[in-house]
Amino acid sequence: MKGVILAGGTGTRLAPLTKIVNKHLLPAGKVPMIEHAVRKLASAGIGDILVVIGKQSAGLFLDYLGGGKRWGVRLTYRVQEEAGGIAQGLALAEGFISEGEKMVVLLGDNLFEDDLRPFADRFAKQEPGTAMVLLKETDELNRYGVPVLANDTIARIEEKPSDPQSDYCVTGVYLYDSAVFGAIRGIRPSLRGELEITDVNNRYAAEGALTYGVLTGWWTDAGTFESLREAGERLSFPDAEPG
Ligand code: DAU
Repeated sequence: MKGVILAGGTGTRLAPLTKIVNKHLLPAGKVPMIEHAVRKLASAGIGDILVVIGKQSAGLFLDYLGGGKRWGVRLTYRVQEEAGGIAQGLALAEGFISEGEKMVVLLGDNLFEDDLRPFADRFAKQEPGTAMVLLKETDELNRYGVPVLANDTIARIEEKPSDPQSDYCVTGVYLYDSAVFGAIRGIRPSLRGELEITDVNNRYAAEGALTYGVLTGWWTDAGTFESLREAGERLSFPDAEPG
């Protein structure tokens, strides 16, 4: 199984800091935010990782992460020229993910405690052409995608709903195989002009092919000053090496 980290986007909610540096390079605890995603995949035994970055700060990502040797992984990079949505960023992984191969996709601003391995192991046994998303119970439902649950699967996901149908949000942890690239080709830009990952996931949901796992440890989407500060306090990677 391979890993894909999506670290494009504009990070407007963290302006003005994000006017000078990409959101995923801001400090989260003792290290830049992006390092947590690399470590999460590495500790789940996923060593072949694509990092999708924007043009902003592209050189800094390379300076800091390099080829991934410090974490025992191999990093490949692709550039998303404009922030056209999470699904547009994910489409750039086609080719890096071979036909039939499975992947764990992480949004670079999602920071969390749980080990990914049990979810990856479960997904490895799922039928080809199916997908899995990880959920987390939250009381800030209108900031996120919210699932309508149907036993073991998700019936549909509502993006930032005013009347949420469950107590869970869809986190930025998604598991797919190469069939996802066909699903992305089947969607159109949303009203805000982006290719939405929720529209991709809803294609799977409509076929009864979207399963879920639930994160039990802490989780945050570090896209706002408040959540980034909270994440910094919770993160404990005391072994961050200098240099
Ligand atoms: O954090 C979980 C939420 O992430 C989900 O609950 C939502 O269903 C999902 O749509 C997404 O919502 P956000 O509004 O938080 O997404 P945002 O635009 O902030 O992007 C999140 C990450 O995706 C960010 O770390 C960078 C990456 N990204 C985003 C865009 C728009 C890209 O790599 N490229 C992009 O074009």
